[in-house]
Amino acid sequence: MKFTLMLNGEQRDFDCEPTRRLLDLLRGDAGLTGVKEGCGQGECGACSILLGDRLVNSCMVAVGQVADRPITTIEGYSRTTRFAVLRDAFGKAGAVQCGFCTPGMIMACEALLRQNNRPRAPEIRLALAGNLCRCTGYNMIVDAVETAAREGKGLW
Ligand code: FES
Ligand code: FES
Repeated sequence: MKFTLMLNGEQRDFDCEPTRRLLDLLRGDAGLTGVKEGCGQGECGACSILLGDRLVNSCMVAVGQVADRPITTIEGYSRTTRFAVLRDAFGKAGAVQCGFCTPGMIMACEALLRQNNRPRAPEIRLALAGNLCRCTGYNMIVDAVETAAREGKGLW
């Protein structure tokens, strides 16, 4: 079946089963390997993307559910000024180690900051609760989001 997806601001055509996992299409057919597969069952957030403004786990979504809806992956988001603010804040706070969780974590931060541009620590922890990090420690990640919110004033 043919689908047109709005991927990172571009219309792209794909031919696949409607039940194909969006994660597989993104990493395979679309070559967007910044989207990671961790658990494959909706628990780790490594595969997080934005569907419109909503953060979703792409391992839990079928391609047939997202036709014609705007999808943003870390590849598209990394071209924005807001990404640069988050990237610098993560660097400053020491919030990245192996980096496996980072693309999904950054997408979760963007989703949070779109809704709440001055989140407090408990709100950040809640918003990132679906994104697991095995190595950094969440305090540094929370610090990074607070820094980004402060330094990116007016961007969100
Ligand atoms: S790979 Fe999708 S939530 Fe873990
Ligand atoms: S930095 Fe390694 S899993 Fe988060």
